Amino acid sequence: MAEFLTGMKRTKMCGLFSREDEGLEVVSMGFVSKYRNLGSIIFVDLRDRTGIVQLAFSNDIDKGSFEKAQTVRNEYVLAIKGKVSKRAENNVNLRMTTGEIEILVSELRIISEAETPPFNITEESNVNEAMRLKYRYLDLRRASLQRLIILRDKITLATHNYMSSKGFLNIETPFLGKSTPEGARDYLVPSRVNLDTFYALPQSPQIYKQLLMISGFDRYYQIARCFRDEDLRANRQPEFTQIDIEMSYVDDISDVMDIAEGLIRNIFKESIGLDLPPRFRRIEYKEAMERFGSDKPDTRFSLELINISEILVNTGFGAFEDSQKEGYSIRAININGAADYTRKEIDKLSIVAREYGAKGVFSVAFKKDGVSSSLLKYIDEEKLVRIKNKLKVNEGDLIIIIADKNKIVFDSLGAIRLYLGKTLGLIDEKNYDILWVTHFPLYEYDEKENRLAAMHHPFTSPLNEDLIYLESDPLRVRAKAYDLVINGQEAGGGSIRIHSKEIQKKMFEIIGLSKEDILHKFGFFVDAFRYGVPPHGGLAFGLDRLVMLLGKTENIKDVIAFPKNQSAQCLMSDAPSTVDIKQLKEIFPNGKVFNE
Ligand code: AMO
Repeated sequence: MAEFLTGMKRTKMCGLFSREDEGLEVVSMGFVSKYRNLGSIIFVDLRDRTGIVQLAFSNDIDKGSFEKAQTVRNEYVLAIKGKVSKRAENNVNLRMTTGEIEILVSELRIISEAETPPFNITEESNVNEAMRLKYRYLDLRRASLQRLIILRDKITLATHNYMSSKGFLNIETPFLGKSTPEGARDYLVPSRVNLDTFYALPQSPQIYKQLLMISGFDRYYQIARCFRDEDLRANRQPEFTQIDIEMSYVDDISDVMDIAEGLIRNIFKESIGLDLPPRFRRIEYKEAMERFGSDKPDTRFSLELINISEILVNTGFGAFEDSQKEGYSIRAININGAADYTRKEIDKLSIVAREYGAKGVFSVAFKKDGVSSSLLKYIDEEKLVRIKNKLKVNEGDLIIIIADKNKIVFDSLGAIRLYLGKTLGLIDEKNYDILWVTHFPLYEYDEKENRLAAMHHPFTSPLNEDLIYLESDPLRVRAKAYDLVINGQEAGGGSIRIHSKEIQKKMFEIIGLSKEDILHKFGFFVDAFRYGVPPHGGLAFGLDRLVMLLGKTENIKDVIAFPKNQSAQCLMSDAPSTVDIKQLKEIFPNGKVFNE
């Protein structure tokens, strides 16, 4: 029978006991992590989120407690009274903060019994992820997950403190709203009261935060939940959290980047005690793509891309012919000491490249006994020397070449670079590599839709000096946009916004929105621009990603208390699920779901 806590007040949490408590009468509570019955003495490890304390029960200390302790099992919830005592010399465990003491229990209450859990709640237990997610509340009892959830709390607290100290107001924006164009699919919520209409859950509070600037709030922030129906990856969840920021009277990208840098420095200091440099490095988008093949470069290792188009042009080799065309190139990386890679190892690189649209890779191996490559028919000695010089090749090196459209070359060679960085152990995992990527293109070409699309979102301001190309050469226009990249992951991004209604109108036109589209999608937003708009800008950090980076985990699920699996399901609650026909009839009384 479950007992009650009546008369018992906890004096300290389990993991906080130390030598200093020796001799004190204490009350503690927690889960049974382990028990050992040695006959005349029973040891129990009592666990809460702060750690573990050892309890000792024996006839000599208290007969009643000792007898009750015989019935205790793993995961029982206990409350105990007892005296903190020094452990016997041979029992001391210096790896635990509480390892020098134990509590000699004089009163034991079994507050809740527990059935045998479906898996052992230890770091070592080898259980598949689906099982862990089904019993998430049990998995969350593990110290490694508790550490990350506690770290997340520290990061949010540091955020609130820093933003408040800089005069930012914490303002909430709706979940039930109108769809915002962030590039993913919306989660739709049907309205019962307004038949056949839908709310969209926000992909981000983008439009609302800009409206708050128009309302005169000047500096806004919010730790905001966002919803995106997109393909999930190790660092993506359908429901995730942003540290969302917007500020008025800014024009230069540094105005926002300075605040963001301050926030990140503060978060690192407050949550893991690390001092970051006073300025973060900056690199322009074009340079990031050319050197690392990525707009979120991992610069913890080199293995840089080198453009060799001009050397290999006019070789007569079919695959290289296109490189003369605008938007195509031939680029290579030099893998030191890899000349002896087997066919299989090179094929693996081709597989990586093909995932990003390349047809494959070419290789040139600079072996001791000469150069080996299928390209030798097309590359004469002079070209070979030029390649060697440009790629700083030594004997024993292997170069990997990809020729294609620039986007494919960058994506595939960038992916190979990352693959090699990881598999060859070139990355110092202890380090934090933080940099800004700036000067993104304002537009990108959407091949599927055959039109220009906003690379960031359609409220992003062009660079002042590129405004002249807006109509004549839109792909040349760069944006006042910036991303913060930490260890090769996009931790956050934002932009200075368009505050002129003429430029905003032009922006919508260039991405192919008709007057009706604009009115239907953004009518209220465009309207607001008629009544005075302070120049403004902002950014959003992915909070989950920051916790992952600071907590050194590669799985976003580890930093979210109740995450979804790869198919966007919650295995614990079984969401999404079918609903009652009664509920459906209330929302769709005519039985009509859509009208084409
Ligand atoms: P963006 O779409 O770049 O910008 O998102 C900002 C940051 O949010 C994180 N993020 C995600 N994290 C987990 N799961 C996801 N599915 C996911 N998608 C994005 C990333 C990303 O850098 N409104 C703009 C910001 C602005 O312009 O102010 C926006 O949402 O870390």
